Amino acid sequence: MSKQTSKKKKDKPKLWAGRFSEATDPLVDVFTNSIPFDYRLLPYDLAGSLAHLKMLARQGIIPVKEAKKIRTGLLEIQKEWELGKLSFPLEDEDVHMFVEKRLTKKIGAVAGKIHTARSRNDQVALDLRLYLRDQIQDLKRELQGLQKTLLERAKNQGHLILPGYTHLQRAQPVILGHHLLAYLEMFYRDQQRLSEVLRRVNILPLGSAALAGTSFPIDRTLVAKELGFEQISPNSMDAVSDRDFVIEFLSAGATLMMHYSRMSEELILWSSSEFDFVEISDAFCTGSSIMPQKKNPDVPELIRGKTGRVYGHLMGMLTTMKALPLTYNKDLQEDKEPVFDSVETLLNCTRLLCGLWSNIRFRTDSMEKAAETGYLLATDLADYLVKKGLDFRRAHQVVGTLVAYALKRGWELKDIPLSELKTFHPIFEEDVHTALDLRSAMAERNSQGGTAPQQVKKALKEMEKKI
Ligand code: ARG
Repeated sequence: MSKQTSKKKKDKPKLWAGRFSEATDPLVDVFTNSIPFDYRLLPYDLAGSLAHLKMLARQGIIPVKEAKKIRTGLLEIQKEWELGKLSFPLEDEDVHMFVEKRLTKKIGAVAGKIHTARSRNDQVALDLRLYLRDQIQDLKRELQGLQKTLLERAKNQGHLILPGYTHLQRAQPVILGHHLLAYLEMFYRDQQRLSEVLRRVNILPLGSAALAGTSFPIDRTLVAKELGFEQISPNSMDAVSDRDFVIEFLSAGATLMMHYSRMSEELILWSSSEFDFVEISDAFCTGSSIMPQKKNPDVPELIRGKTGRVYGHLMGMLTTMKALPLTYNKDLQEDKEPVFDSVETLLNCTRLLCGLWSNIRFRTDSMEKAAETGYLLATDLADYLVKKGLDFRRAHQVVGTLVAYALKRGWELKDIPLSELKTFHPIFEEDVHTALDLRSAMAERNSQGGTAPQQVKKALKEMEKKI
């Protein structure tokens, strides 16, 4: 324990210092104070206080004249925040104490009345919900921007052909529109998840007070309306102590990052000279300090990398909450940094991906060449035989031997003359070369949700309506 523990109370005592006879150890201040990061909640804290104040005055809990004075003070702090005039010293403990202290400095002791029928426990839950509500809406907007950009690319260049992969081996050809639609479907579900979370974030906890409600005749419905909440939390103990809405947000965020990471991985692969499918614009790449020829895909790499920290925040929060007894515990203060960092990461990654996709160039030739080599139409050839009457297992076998034969000669399937095909099975006919044409093969995959241009066009239209 440090020497300061034995110090007497300082000149500037804490707002809660009534029952204390010693000053806080400076180490404890640094360890327990959240103002270095929760200052971000200030505008939400003020909005919450203004709504609470209005209700207190309406209900006759505090005199209207005093409420007016408090309101003026709160609005002044709001102005100062907007003008960037505020600094947040560590000694102010947290954003809620900061506001009350500043208010007291401005209007005197009457400031203390704002805390009637309220506790920091319901206040902090309120602030975090208001903050998250705003940020989720922002994130949804940014994500919509990315969806629109992808949709544009899919509409304009959706006809380009590239290999589709399984096991990262060329498997079957697809059109680019189909590939991009796969991500658009994922992002559509991400939007749905975020909307779901938003619904459960948008619940008013204020009025729960410390944990058990209050003896004052408050009107929670009024406060909810004032702050745009759709519901009021039904149980005060739950409202001040659960953070499942944070976990849900982090989970939806982690899933979105997982999708971003997969997309980034493909961009990294596609921009390598091994694939050479895309060129990421210079504005979204960086160079090497030693190798002059290098142009590195740092942006998608970093998005892939940052996915780890959002996963980490989700696991961290789950662990923080585990085994917490009801109701508020200081552990809950650990909810904010993971949320702030995740929000910032998600917003940045979304904006960057949007910019990257707006400027990307496709290498049409290498994409199509890759789709033409490597026997990607082997399944189509087997299907051809099945349509002629063979059972699929037998057809699979015939085509397998054909692939081995072609491999030995350094041929593609379409290079094998009909006369030779017939030695593998007499059922082959002239029309086999249509089955082995890239474009007609793709038009054939016309099942619902398949890669045939007709299907993709329909799917793009549907998607456009949904975004
Ligand atoms: N800074 C605290 C937090 O972030 C605010 C609530 C504190 N409440 C309390 N009773 N100590 O969780």
